[in-house]
Amino acid sequence: MKQKAGFLLHLVCGVLAVFLNSSVVKAEDPYKFYTWTVTYGTLSPLGVPQQVILINGQFPGPTLDVVTNDNIILNLINKLDQPFLLTWNGIKQRKNSWQDGVLGTNCPILPNSNYTYKFQTKDQIGSFTYFPSTQFHKAAGGFGGINVYARPRIPVPYPIPDGDFTLLAGDWYNTSHKALQQSLDSGKSLPFPSCVLINGHTSNTFSVDQGKTYMFRISNVGLSTSLNFRIEGHKLKLVECEGSHPIQNIYDSLDIHVGQSVSVLVTLNQAPKDYYIVASTRFTRRVLTATSVIHYTNSHASVSGPVPAGPTYQIHWSMKQARTFRWNLTANAARPNPQGSFHYGHVTPTRTIVLANSAPLINGKLRYAFNRVSYVNPDTPLKLADYFNIPGVFSLDSIQTIPSDGSAFVGTPVMPVSHHDFVEIVFQNNENSVQSMHLDGYDFWVVGYGSGPWTPAKRRTYNLVDALTRHTAQVYPNSWTTILVSLDNQGMWNLRSAIWERQYLGQHSRTKRIGRPSTESVFLSHECGVENCIDNEGLSPRRPKLSHKIQLQGSQCSSRFSTNFVTSKHEDLAISSCKNGGVAKGIFGKLGDLICIGSEMVTGSQAGLKLVEECSSYAEGIFWSRNETLGVKGGLLEAFGI
Ligand SMILES: *[C@@H]1O[C@H](CO)[C@@H](O)[C@H](O)[C@H]1NC(C)=O
Ligand SMILES: *[C@@H]1O[C@H](CO)[C@@H](O)[C@H](O)[C@H]1NC(C)=O
Ligand SMILES: *[C@@H]1O[C@H](CO)[C@@H](O)[C@H](O)[C@H]1NC(C)=O
Ligand SMILES: *[C@@H]1O[C@H](CO)[C@@H](O)[C@H](O)[C@H]1NC(C)=O
Repeated sequence: MKQKAGFLLHLVCGVLAVFLNSSVVKAEDPYKFYTWTVTYGTLSPLGVPQQVILINGQFPGPTLDVVTNDNIILNLINKLDQPFLLTWNGIKQRKNSWQDGVLGTNCPILPNSNYTYKFQTKDQIGSFTYFPSTQFHKAAGGFGGINVYARPRIPVPYPIPDGDFTLLAGDWYNTSHKALQQSLDSGKSLPFPSCVLINGHTSNTFSVDQGKTYMFRISNVGLSTSLNFRIEGHKLKLVECEGSHPIQNIYDSLDIHVGQSVSVLVTLNQAPKDYYIVASTRFTRRVLTATSVIHYTNSHASVSGPVPAGPTYQIHWSMKQARTFRWNLTANAARPNPQGSFHYGHVTPTRTIVLANSAPLINGKLRYAFNRVSYVNPDTPLKLADYFNIPGVFSLDSIQTIPSDGSAFVGTPVMPVSHHDFVEIVFQNNENSVQSMHLDGYDFWVVGYGSGPWTPAKRRTYNLVDALTRHTAQVYPNSWTTILVSLDNQGMWNLRSAIWERQYLGQHSRTKRIGRPSTESVFLSHECGVENCIDNEGLSPRRPKLSHKIQLQGSQCSSRFSTNFVTSKHEDLAISSCKNGGVAKGIFGKLGDLICIGSEMVTGSQAGLKLVEECSSYAEGIFWSRNETLGVKGGLLEAFGI
């Protein structure tokens, strides 16, 4: 009887929807505007006050609830005492790598300044997250969920749930992010976390109605620890994984590694009482457990008895489970190659890259490396260096595409790849800890997991039929994971460890798409508000009028720039960077000048010159400014570095 009523209601809604459709479509606003202010705050998630990072006063930050193909215009105001950026984990930023929110493709937002991100959730449906990519801010919060809902006319291969919960789980430290960063800088690895938090708390209560089905969007927003997630007495039906629609298997518990997200449907079909929701650490000697509560609204009893146990160290259990994550080939979804013009299993990779991670000591300090190279962020942003052909900023050949013997070193590797390359990347983890690898700008097929060293013979074990696509793949201790990726998204993209101390101490590199040479200028120009310099495709920019010279003075300027102009192939342009109180001086002046100086603040003697339209700086200590009405004579510019 009840069911019938439900069906009728559905029918009525369906009929109504038909009538209302035209107005509904009109009412849909594809632009969503946000203003977010990032501040410090004091909270006591563990009962002891500690400094956290808030967004609009919230910890975790606000959830971005958007719809496929929405355009997000998000003005981020940084009120911290350090440069800051948010990265949108898993949002593909098609041809938009300058909105990716990682150093190298974005300037950090300096203290007391703001930057407006503009990006689209193009062809994506699912649960994603955002988090700070700068310094060690992620350890203090600043993260949140991004829920991309399907547009009304696009069906998803599961019934629309009665409700929707976002669960951000992760390991947590009661130490401040600055203290953790200092300890990493001094060459120590992170200590064992203090606890696991879900949505910023040690315990939460989720109220549910008996008989209904809810979606739980679960992400691991922690720094380094894999988690197992389970709900006492209830089954988890996997329906979405980082934007792809898997075979809807039923699980008692799910492993979720750092940086990953899944959506599960849970039907509340048990006796009306309260049940535990548990997230516990994986592959750790000591197991940390966070428990929250599912509260049936008609519950007669609170939680009792032991917390349901989960796997702790069983690596094979996890690997076996990972292999059950498979694509539903008949389900429609936002996915790579949505038109289905090729099947990934039938494409021969154009190249193979094997990246072995390691934890070497370099100059006596712990660093993390791929194929012996430990990444450092350069003073000059990669994309600028690339566009203006500045030598010595990054190197295209320092990182080898297969592991080799020898000692590790620091560098700024950019791995050149070509448009439409179809690449096999093997992550080889010869360490005892679990690794989690993330690629910005893409989904990739995770075709294989295996123990020990990878060899070409392991290709026989790949799933070339229905492997799942996702943006973050775990690599088990002393094991390998292979991904296949179709490089169809222009730009320079960050490939990194999602294990945050590894990322902080150098384990990332960038893949750079070459073959469409002028894409980087899109970045440059967008950053400076001169979009009109670029044609719509972003392929053949009219070079912005750049005309100035910058001279750096001061002993504290970084040595590369301390005395010389750094001029590009465009002789009238100088790009400079200046840290720690160095001074940048420049003489310039033409209508529509675009200038770049190394500074945090632009102050000082300015003969006839004002800086306007300060774009978000591109890397630490780089500023772009533009003055449309600048007089012909120009003036002297002084800037003080950070
Ligand atoms: C900074 O914020 C102001 C308003 O709060 C806005 O008008 C301006 O465009 C923002 N600047 C950037 C670079 O986003
Ligand atoms: C795959 O998706 C289709 C289309 O939505 C659905 O009917 C089918 O049940 C799904 N198969 C599995 C095994 O999840
Ligand atoms: C922080 O957590 C550790 C356990 O990881 C504990 O020993 C210590 O007392 C805690 N410190 C504070 C100030 O709560
Ligand atoms: C640009 O420079 C001119 C000449 O110095 C100055 O008068 C003008 O105020 C500047 N424009 C802005 C918007 O600050």
